[in-house]
Amino acid sequence: MRALQNSRVHELSPEEQAIYRQLDPERIPRHVAIIMDGNGRWAGKRALKRFLGHQQGAESVQYVVETASRIDLPWLTLYAFSLENNLRRPRAEVNFLMKLLKTYLVGNVKRMNDNNVRMAYIGRIHELPSEVRDTMQWASEATAKNTGTTLTLALNYGARSELVDAMRLAMRDAITESEGDFARLQSLIAEMDEPHVTRRLYTAAMPDPDLVVRTSGEQRISNFLLWQIAYAEIFVTDRLWPDFRGIHLLEAIADFQRRERRYGGLGEHITDEDTDAQRVDDAAELVRR
Ligand code: FPP
Repeated sequence: MRALQNSRVHELSPEEQAIYRQLDPERIPRHVAIIMDGNGRWAGKRALKRFLGHQQGAESVQYVVETASRIDLPWLTLYAFSLENNLRRPRAEVNFLMKLLKTYLVGNVKRMNDNNVRMAYIGRIHELPSEVRDTMQWASEATAKNTGTTLTLALNYGARSELVDAMRLAMRDAITESEGDFARLQSLIAEMDEPHVTRRLYTAAMPDPDLVVRTSGEQRISNFLLWQIAYAEIFVTDRLWPDFRGIHLLEAIADFQRRERRYGGLGEHITDEDTDAQRVDDAAELVRR
């Protein structure tokens, strides 16, 4: 049961409260991950430069984070900057995004603290410029004691490179642990299983996302959290990220709550009658006739 005594739901806007009232507070997802897309198109539609779309996108980030914290969403992960963005976008745009990230962190740490939000990061952070890393570290230290929503920014992140990094770690650990004993190394490799991978991912400390939201209508995952979203529900909206607000997060959660999650099993509506062996055989016989 979620603790209701410190509920901040009354801080939602009246429109957000109207959606929230339709939700089952016991089934708020534990982790929502968002692919923020469409900043460039948002700017293009207004004949503005792309960087203004990113700037507006940063505003959306703060609105969405604050709504998440008001409904007590434990984990919110935002795909802010992919490894591919870093490699394939013009240097001027990458530099602008780095500057925007710094400005965003400096300008919003107080609001993060007011909202009990803790900041974290995933990705090949060590490859980012050192002055950006310093600000990131400052922001995570300044919010480390908060106990509400953990906002994780995926920066210079790619899911395949995360898996490569996890494999490197696993191999290194096995080599260290085997202390030169080849037979021991072989048995450590044979013992490797899913938890061995999970605990070496950047996301080791978080639950897997229950819900992935993608804005701007593209039906792609774009190398985001590939391992972790094995059973996540996916919600795609045509809305461009700079137009996305807390109310749209609540709508995505309402849609999520209408879904039936099966994790590879059979849904709750399947009865023993449906799976009764004799009935299944009889049905198969009918199909053959
Ligand atoms: C996708 O839009 C968005 C990005 C590549 C960057 C996301 C960055 C922000 C939301 C702003 C900064 C974030 C923080 C945390 C301060 P796009 O440029 O791919 O849009 P397009 O597909 O319409 O061109």
